[in-house]
Amino acid sequence: MPKKIIFEPSRTLAEFRLLPGLTTKHTAPDEITLRTPLVYSEQEEKKYYLNIPMVSAAMQSVSGQQMGIELAKMGGAAFIYCSQSIASQAEMIWKIKHYKAGFVEPRTLPPHIKIREMYDIRKETGYSTFPVVDSRGRFMGLITKWDYDLFLHADNTVGERMIPLEQVEVGRNISDLKEANRILLESHKSVLPILDDTGRLISMVFRKDIYDQLDYPLEVHDEKKRLLAVAAINTHDYRDRVPALVEQEVDVVSVDSSDGHSSYQKDTIEWVGRKYPALPVIGGNVITEAGFRYLVKAGARAVKVGMGGGSICITQEQKGTGRGLATAIIKVAEEREKHRKETGIYIPLVADGGVTSTKDITVALALGADYVMMGRYFARMEEAPTEKLVVNNRVMKPYWGEGSARAREWHLKRYYQSKFIEGVEGLVEYTGRLRDNLPETLVKIKASLSTCGVRNIAELHQKAQLELISALSIREGKVHDIMQTGDTNDTIDYQKPE
Ligand code: IMP
Repeated sequence: MPKKIIFEPSRTLAEFRLLPGLTTKHTAPDEITLRTPLVYSEQEEKKYYLNIPMVSAAMQSVSGQQMGIELAKMGGAAFIYCSQSIASQAEMIWKIKHYKAGFVEPRTLPPHIKIREMYDIRKETGYSTFPVVDSRGRFMGLITKWDYDLFLHADNTVGERMIPLEQVEVGRNISDLKEANRILLESHKSVLPILDDTGRLISMVFRKDIYDQLDYPLEVHDEKKRLLAVAAINTHDYRDRVPALVEQEVDVVSVDSSDGHSSYQKDTIEWVGRKYPALPVIGGNVITEAGFRYLVKAGARAVKVGMGGGSICITQEQKGTGRGLATAIIKVAEEREKHRKETGIYIPLVADGGVTSTKDITVALALGADYVMMGRYFARMEEAPTEKLVVNNRVMKPYWGEGSARAREWHLKRYYQSKFIEGVEGLVEYTGRLRDNLPETLVKIKASLSTCGVRNIAELHQKAQLELISALSIREGKVHDIMQTGDTNDTIDYQKPE
């Protein structure tokens, strides 16, 4: 006899709808905040929050350093994937931590190269302004597209055509973007090289970027005002990986595993807790009450919930294990509440795998998640570390699971003997930059909270009313019984009536 058979089917997020609460001027979208705890922390200075309830999945095709920087600037966080060498993951964390908004690490040129060669570099990089530095990295001058004519000066050197140091406005040791902006405005220049005391070039500030860069009100940082950097770890090489990440001052780590209810994960979390008590660890993934308790007992400060629902996931088909994400969140959130009553500790929950649309996000939050982790959503964006492809006249980006053959090449060489894959490889439609997409998603989440009559995620947890809907209701909730004309992919051939 099995230990347990549940005859009630488990539910997915798409099967629920939210009922409205009382909407007032206090719950207007502008009054709503989506700030949410990233992890539980006893220490005041380590109380990390996200300003949007979304993080990107720890996957090779999703979360590299560019995603890490841009998403933190927009209020979320990207879990830098661990299916890469320790050195390259640590370098990504370093880059996020040392990122200074608006301060660009420029491509430099030596003074002796010819204008003709410089022009090739210009075409290759797309940059039109280059700082010129000597062999010790000291700033010598600037060359811009206005300083040469390709036909007249092809054989001149960059040093001969550059604007020399004496005629360039420079900033010394500046790290405040507003100060850089003030100098640029007063000098009527469009670019400001930043030098150290010895004259070495540290970075450049471009006027065209400045207003963009000052415009990130939701940015999440550490106590030293650097961007928050978070990373995935695994249960195999954590003894080497975690110290390397800590050296680069990673803020939070998350154990990456499709089945978190395991003694390997317990050992990993306990080890980090003993060696680095100030470093919060997120555990997961679990889908049962027992799994949640097990990880929290080991020291997990947040728990990822979900198994088998990811868009690239074939775990359910391959192993027959999994649970609808809505049911998993409900069960784990009930247990989290019991645990909170017993201990006073609130463990944030992360809904992970199969969260595809804004309505999924809101339902996951309403059921008890504090934020969602998404792969497919972010894989479509410019900041994902993949190249765009044109397929059947559509611009696409590749997206593959961490358990797919493609990602496992990395794992297999090192750890796994597994004979089967748990994920697939595919394409998703390219959709532009994060800043072209996230604002709309966030406005929709806020509109949804407004309709529910709540001002934040904590209130949503207490006041949300949800209802399971029938397949017919789902049909009714979509466009039906009309031929859609605007905003559709179908080509419509209009003809004049006879
Ligand atoms: P998505 O947002 O639906 O694309 O799901 C992303 C999530 O799927 C990740 O955060 C992981 O939890 C999970 N995942 C990533 N790679 C695999 C895989 O290869 N097999 C199964 N699940 C995966």
